[in-house]
Amino acid sequence: MTSQRLGEARRYEEASEKRIPDEERPAFHLSPRVGWMNDPNGFSWFEGKYHLFYQYNPYEVQWGPMHWGHAVSEDLLHWEYLPAALAPDQVWDRDGCFSGSAVTLADGRQLLMYTGVVRERQADGSWADVQAQCVAAGDGVDYEKYEKNPVLDEKDIPEGGSRNDFRDPKMWQEEDGTYRCVIGNRSADGSGQILLFSSPDGFAWHYEKVLAASRNRFGRMWECPDFFPLDGKWILIVSPQDMLPSGLEYHNGNGTLCLIGDYDKKTAEYEEIANQSVDYGIDFYAPQTVLAPDGRRIMIGWLQNWDTCSHRGQRDEGWFGQMSIPRELSVRNGRLCQKPIRELERMRQNKVEYENVALSGAVRLEGVRGRRIDMELEIRQEEGCGLYRKFTVCFAQNDSYYTSVSFRPDESVLKVDRKFSGSRKAVIHQRRSKVRHEGGRLKLRVILDRFSAEIFVNDGEQVLSLVLYTVQEAEDISFIAEGTVKLDVVKYDLV
Ligand code: FRU
Repeated sequence: MTSQRLGEARRYEEASEKRIPDEERPAFHLSPRVGWMNDPNGFSWFEGKYHLFYQYNPYEVQWGPMHWGHAVSEDLLHWEYLPAALAPDQVWDRDGCFSGSAVTLADGRQLLMYTGVVRERQADGSWADVQAQCVAAGDGVDYEKYEKNPVLDEKDIPEGGSRNDFRDPKMWQEEDGTYRCVIGNRSADGSGQILLFSSPDGFAWHYEKVLAASRNRFGRMWECPDFFPLDGKWILIVSPQDMLPSGLEYHNGNGTLCLIGDYDKKTAEYEEIANQSVDYGIDFYAPQTVLAPDGRRIMIGWLQNWDTCSHRGQRDEGWFGQMSIPRELSVRNGRLCQKPIRELERMRQNKVEYENVALSGAVRLEGVRGRRIDMELEIRQEEGCGLYRKFTVCFAQNDSYYTSVSFRPDESVLKVDRKFSGSRKAVIHQRRSKVRHEGGRLKLRVILDRFSAEIFVNDGEQVLSLVLYTVQEAEDISFIAEGTVKLDVVKYDLV
């Protein structure tokens, strides 16, 4: 039965999506049907399609009462909206259906698990969110919330863990058919920990153990965990709040963290080996992965960061927030690597290619322009010219605006900069990352989709993502070298 609140949201989104012209939203990055979007939720493969749900407030371009929006796709690039899946309409989730995940049940239904939020008046008169985990089962369109919700609440949290920060369950199914989930929590030391739970059927859940703990190493609360095997290792991805910077690896505020380690399923012991950022750009948070039917581990993140949401300004374009390009994950040389999903190559058209361009000063190359493009660059030293000092590519450019990526080989630093993209807000517009290169040789792949840029470095060793709201007419691209750079360019339109 569709509740009144869900029915209202469904009618509202259907009537209101029409006021957003297709050209005024991203072409192949999922954006909300209408209103506000944050985290990806319930990323899954169900009955022959990928399903992606999202944190959703249809009524405003601001965060508000959290619903789950819903879309399906066969290639993760062309999306079809389905009616909103969840609304905050029960006593146990009346102040929000926060982030969560999806699995398939033994009887073929799809199970969603999410965090139900209830604001409670405290003894001192203040208000606090209490968070518990709830489930809903359905057919891929309509979901029925379980009458015994919540299935996990404060009684299931180990001693010292906070009932106010207990959220974002990510479930998976084991080979024996039973289920596990990881949930973000804040421990007595004020920092994040990840709790592991198990269930025989998806409805009855039991606490197992603390899978990993921050002990104040990485920010405060850890949001949106995901835990999965990849290339012989186990990857734990979390999104810490309130990070302190560490070199160019981690930056202040909301960040992303990837732990690479070994996991013993019998004892459920996780041993960390290495850590790194997931994305080194400005806008990326709360990623979630799916295991594709062909075995690929594919990740999508919210292409936004809480700290920079005001960058867009107050104008109401009908939508706010978008997802990243889906990324295929692998572990290479002990690091998490990401590549845009290969399905993107089917959208490539109008190839333009330049080889061995000797560049010094600024140039534009005939045919290299556009705001929906896939562009591969390889730069290196020109023989006999010594190491160049700096290489820059500017895009989304016209006489007034541009966004740039620049590389200084002597520092091994790559920088993205959207300061001149038309933004009128004092938020972070630049970010730098250490990258690997041999004698100035570097590979970049730049994906643009109207309101975003994602820069993949050295076949996915690093990614730097950002959103930009520059007018669409700004579609020039130019290259600038200080010193002499040898440049190869392959550019496609994405159609
Ligand atoms: C992360 C997050 C989650 C929470 C959701 C609420 O961006 O804060 O922890 O479930 O957003 O919308």
